[in-house]
Amino acid sequence: MLKFAALLSLASLIPAFVEAASPVWGQCGGQGWTGDTTCASGSTCVVSNPYYSQCLPSSSNPTTTANPTTANPTTTVRPTTTSAGGGGSSSSVPQPTTTPDASNPFVGYQIYLSPYYASEVQAAAAQITDSTLKAKAASVANIPTFTWFDVIAKTSQLGTYLADADAKAKASGQKYLVQIVVYDLPDRDCAALASNGEFSIADNGLNNYKNYIDQLVAQIKKYPNVRVVAVIEPDSLANLVTNLNVAKCAGAQQAYQAGVTYAMQQLNAVGVYMYLDAGHAGWLGWPANLTPAAQLFSNLYKSAGSPKFVRGLATNVANYNALSAATPDKVTQGNPNYDEIHYINALAPVLASEGFPAHFIVDQGRSGQQGIRDQWGDWCNVVNAGFGTRPTTNTGSSLVDAIVWVKPGGECDGTSNTSAVRYDAHCGLNDAAKPAPEAGTWFQSYFETLVKNASPSL
Ligand code: GLC
Repeated sequence: MLKFAALLSLASLIPAFVEAASPVWGQCGGQGWTGDTTCASGSTCVVSNPYYSQCLPSSSNPTTTANPTTANPTTTVRPTTTSAGGGGSSSSVPQPTTTPDASNPFVGYQIYLSPYYASEVQAAAAQITDSTLKAKAASVANIPTFTWFDVIAKTSQLGTYLADADAKAKASGQKYLVQIVVYDLPDRDCAALASNGEFSIADNGLNNYKNYIDQLVAQIKKYPNVRVVAVIEPDSLANLVTNLNVAKCAGAQQAYQAGVTYAMQQLNAVGVYMYLDAGHAGWLGWPANLTPAAQLFSNLYKSAGSPKFVRGLATNVANYNALSAATPDKVTQGNPNYDEIHYINALAPVLASEGFPAHFIVDQGRSGQQGIRDQWGDWCNVVNAGFGTRPTTNTGSSLVDAIVWVKPGGECDGTSNTSAVRYDAHCGLNDAAKPAPEAGTWFQSYFETLVKNASPSL
């Protein structure tokens, strides 16, 4: 005891030594964090979300340095005229000044590489000693992924990316497209815990969300020559189809609908091509879910005024299903729609008959390996996953505009730390990789597995 006390008093004399900084990619803040809030030299503490701040290499900071203990930025909330029920194309809804291409919006465009993901990948490759694996890992930085705007603090970064894409377009004479994920609904991730967000419906969440959309819109407006493609709110509407038995989802129903409607209308006005997230084959692809899903999507689309730039739906976001499986994975048993193309082919006609002639994009970023899940519903850092088919418009289906990488492979799905506020039991299952850091933060060993298991190989 005495020894301990002596150590303590010694420690108080040399704070510089006891306050060891967190390493690059280590945690440096967030709700409940009691560890170091300073970062190793060459890195800066950046808020990922209210639950997690991370030491990022200084060159790659997605946001300005923020105080790690106060994650929520102050927001100015603009009054809105859109009805809370999400309905009605009232005269106050702004309209686009341009007409969308009737054909595939990806064709003829160079996809902008997210500098943030590239820096994550480069830092990851630098940690690999095996030279073959290192080269393969580094090559991932050249594969386009979507950039997730998962907290309002990151929205200012969009303007930087758009300006950069604009400059690259001018310098090269090519047209550029920036891919984003709109992901900040209040009471987000209502049926799970891992990705719970920063806004709460009970605390002005819908207005905060509208402000978040306004921030994105304000920047997109400045770069009319850069095309923006957005995936709208992963999991949200799918949760409204199947998870209204979960109290948080039932409570979020109106806000999700109003939020997605607002996003569609405002982003439409600035010409953003949109795909609403539609879960995946193992979720809404079950025959009993197809019609309710199609009705929800179509009704929302129509009540938003059938925004011209809403191109369709995105499927398999952050999931592991094949677009077209050679043989059905054993976990898909009982569902004739055992892969994404079967799901899309089954859903599209129902949507069309409901007045929503949708096209699709399909995430294949982590779908390289099949037969890796114990249950189809397992979604968290599934062990032995591999990078999948590269982004392409050569999809083999006129319904599918593009194979894309929406989930930036290597970013975590959820923490395996059972005492974390956002611990979700799925991240503790046998087929979930452990130990896993917080959702959205870098998961080095998982990234290395994705590289090793890539199919086609890197
Ligand atoms: C998860 C995280 C989110 C992150 C996204 C992409 O949904 O909650 O923070 O941006 O994955 O990695």
